[in-house]
Amino acid sequence: MPGKIAPGPRGHLLLGSLPAARRDPIKLFMESFRDYGEVVRFRFGPMVAHLVSSPSGVNQILAENNKNYGKQTRGYASLRYVLGNGLLTSEGEFWKRQRRIAQPAFHRQRIAGFGQAMARAAAEAAASFEARRGQVIDVAEEMMRLTLRIVGETLLGYDPSDAAGEVGPALAFLLTMVNQRTSRLVFFGRPLLPTPENFRIRRSLATLDAIVQRIIAERRKAPGDDLLSMLMEATDEVTGEKMDDRQLRDEAMTIFLAGHETTSNALTWTFLLLARYPAALRELRAELLQVLGNRDPTPADLPRLRFTKMVVEESMRLYPPAWMIARSVSQADEIGGYQIPAGSIVFVSPYVVHRHPGVWQDPEGFDPHRFAAEKPRGAYFPFGGGPRMCIGNGFATMEAELVLATIARRVRFELQPGHRVVPDPSITLRPRYGMKMRVS
Ligand code: HEM
Repeated sequence: MPGKIAPGPRGHLLLGSLPAARRDPIKLFMESFRDYGEVVRFRFGPMVAHLVSSPSGVNQILAENNKNYGKQTRGYASLRYVLGNGLLTSEGEFWKRQRRIAQPAFHRQRIAGFGQAMARAAAEAAASFEARRGQVIDVAEEMMRLTLRIVGETLLGYDPSDAAGEVGPALAFLLTMVNQRTSRLVFFGRPLLPTPENFRIRRSLATLDAIVQRIIAERRKAPGDDLLSMLMEATDEVTGEKMDDRQLRDEAMTIFLAGHETTSNALTWTFLLLARYPAALRELRAELLQVLGNRDPTPADLPRLRFTKMVVEESMRLYPPAWMIARSVSQADEIGGYQIPAGSIVFVSPYVVHRHPGVWQDPEGFDPHRFAAEKPRGAYFPFGGGPRMCIGNGFATMEAELVLATIARRVRFELQPGHRVVPDPSITLRPRYGMKMRVS
């Protein structure tokens, strides 16, 4: 095999870096990058894995040589248990077909049509915050509710506000479980044994399934111009077949999960950063006043809200909701002069690369203006890259900008003194104890 063996921590005799990864994966990755460099070799029990943190290495894995880097990882195996075989988790020809069918729903013009619903939902949320001036709210919870509603209305043709109480906790619980399992030594990928925990996992999944089945049944009766209705209508060019209920369920579940929790986290971290950086908040409000005057934004305003856009970009640099992306290696490769063996795992972490001191000046500082300039390829990838890049990229960006502009124009959030802000690297990067903030 060409190349050298990459340096890395020795870790525990048997478990390697597994205990450290379970305790605090961000710390493990950040310290390993600092101590060993752009390619770090880990042992996780019997498995070999590499953390690759050079922009060129990221580009090699996600784009240039993407065919060599699949989704046969523990994390994706666990996600498959919840999401089935949808756009996010499937591979090969099947994925290609699903992506082809779904793509039109995410075209720019189509998304602009969704903008109305986004703006309306954001305005209602802003009004509800105005009504709670002086009170302490959990911004993380509020953003979760808002983004769930937006995804429900626009992509699933459904107002999930009545079911949101069930969906949120069930999904959150499943995600945490799924995440914890991936770092155990013995890994099944699905809950096999009759333990209380496994019982709860199955029950949460059943709750979600019931909601999704209900939505599918409703859309079958009354199709709309949402993504789910499009998927129902779509026929395979080759066989002429339509998606069955099982496939629709997997895609709807994928959209539920991929489409709300990520955007919600991006917004929550943005409000935290704006509370911590008053100069940026002042500049943001000045732009909103200048462009919008005394009204709420519409999708047509977004091209002129340039600072707003940079605030969201900079926030996703420091707190990328998808903080880590894992791939399985098909054939041996070489990255940055180091061996990447067949059958091993590679990680690329937006959280780490977005703090690469060779790419970013003052990496820990919040400075939206740095996004006035282009970034090198592979240096900034909150939405991943290559063919498996996030299909909801444009949707999420527009949603985050509209929601931020609508809310920041009307209210300000201050972090509740004493509230502990701890990034929790679950599947997505979220605040472990929520985000308790005072409305003013
Ligand atoms: C700020 C918000 C979002 C972030 C940071 C984000 C991030 C990502 C990332 C990093 C990937 C690639 C995963 C990988 O390569 O392993 C991805 C894929 C995906 N995302 Fe997003 N996402 C966001 C919002 C959305 C929204 C709103 C949707 C709406 C449906 C969505 C749907 C998807 C789907 C379906 C995939 C799989 C695409 C494929 O493989 O063909 N995401 N996302």
